[in-house]
Amino acid sequence: MHAESPSSPVTTRQEPNRRFSVAPMMDWTDRHYRYFARLISRHALLYTEMVTTGAVLHGDPERFLGYSAEEQPLALQLGGSNPQELAQCAVLAERAGYAEVNLNVGCPSDRVQNNMIGACLMAHPALVGDCVKAMQDACSTPITVKHRIGINGRESYEELCDFVGTVHAAGCTSFTVHARIAILEGLSPKENREIPPLKYEVVHQLKRDFPQLEISLNGGLTDLEVMQAQLSYVDGVMVGREAYHNPWLLSEVDHRFFGDDHPLPSRIEVMALMRPYIERHIAAGGQMHHITRHMLGLFQGLPGARHFRRELSTTIHRTDKPLALYDALLEQMQARVG
Ligand SMILES: Cc1cc2nc3c(=O)[nH]c(=O)nc-3n(C[C@H](O)[C@H](O)[C@H](O)COP(=O)(O)O)c2cc1C
Repeated sequence: MHAESPSSPVTTRQEPNRRFSVAPMMDWTDRHYRYFARLISRHALLYTEMVTTGAVLHGDPERFLGYSAEEQPLALQLGGSNPQELAQCAVLAERAGYAEVNLNVGCPSDRVQNNMIGACLMAHPALVGDCVKAMQDACSTPITVKHRIGINGRESYEELCDFVGTVHAAGCTSFTVHARIAILEGLSPKENREIPPLKYEVVHQLKRDFPQLEISLNGGLTDLEVMQAQLSYVDGVMVGREAYHNPWLLSEVDHRFFGDDHPLPSRIEVMALMRPYIERHIAAGGQMHHITRHMLGLFQGLPGARHFRRELSTTIHRTDKPLALYDALLEQMQARVG
């Protein structure tokens, strides 16, 4: 039995559907992963890797903001804490057509803390509010915040409510909550995704106390049944590592979370659909493994999964004809999985 359905949040901007999203992950959810993931789910909201305001404003705009139209609906995640710079980035994101701009208040890395980016901002709710307000004033793209349930030294539920309440008062109506605290000293970012315990009940309580807000749950979700059950308590689920390591999980998402029963491509068809994209990337001077490194888990759990992974992670580096290897692999996998 589940608790009563949460009430719908009140929003005014053109909001993407956030019932199921794939988390922002540095080095993992780049445009190539997103193009691939989109072939498996039409509706999952996809997030970019975090991009710092400095990179957007002073780096190569195509590198940091560029994407393929097919990746939509797509949200840009920004790292920063300077309201004016974030506002400038939000304007560029709006021009680039992103469906949402998300502010990272969850990343615990030391490198980002030194620049006042990520989870350390949970200790500065008013500043996060100023950032959200500046971004909202500058553009009409929805602005959201991804955060933790706390940071060490600021772990009480009251402090979490103070954070969410303050940022909400500044105008934010959609929050994605990674249901564990971040420990800002002594743990690596990886340990900070594993050691602090998951506390889904804290996120459920947050939704009950802020029923007017859209609250999405993140952290440790691997099972579609569990995710669906969570939607009795929260408005959306965000999945990170499982969506990356086991991308075929996404094949059930449109049906289960968005009520869309369109026919699904097979894994072999997904491989075939990736081929022209890979070809274009190579023709533009790129390397095949930039793309295929994100596909290693495609056949997880099926015969030949290990062979597929090995060909694309090891053999690929020993050939000067990567597309021929890809075509041969496609035939081999077709023979194995039918
Ligand atoms: C390789 C990797 C990179 C990540 N990079 C980011 C990031 O750029 N921004 C962010 O908010 N979270 C980042 N995260 C955290 C994820 O978004 C997510 O909150 C976390 O992995 C918990 O969800 P999961 O248990 O479903 O993986 C990263 C996680 C991983 C594994």
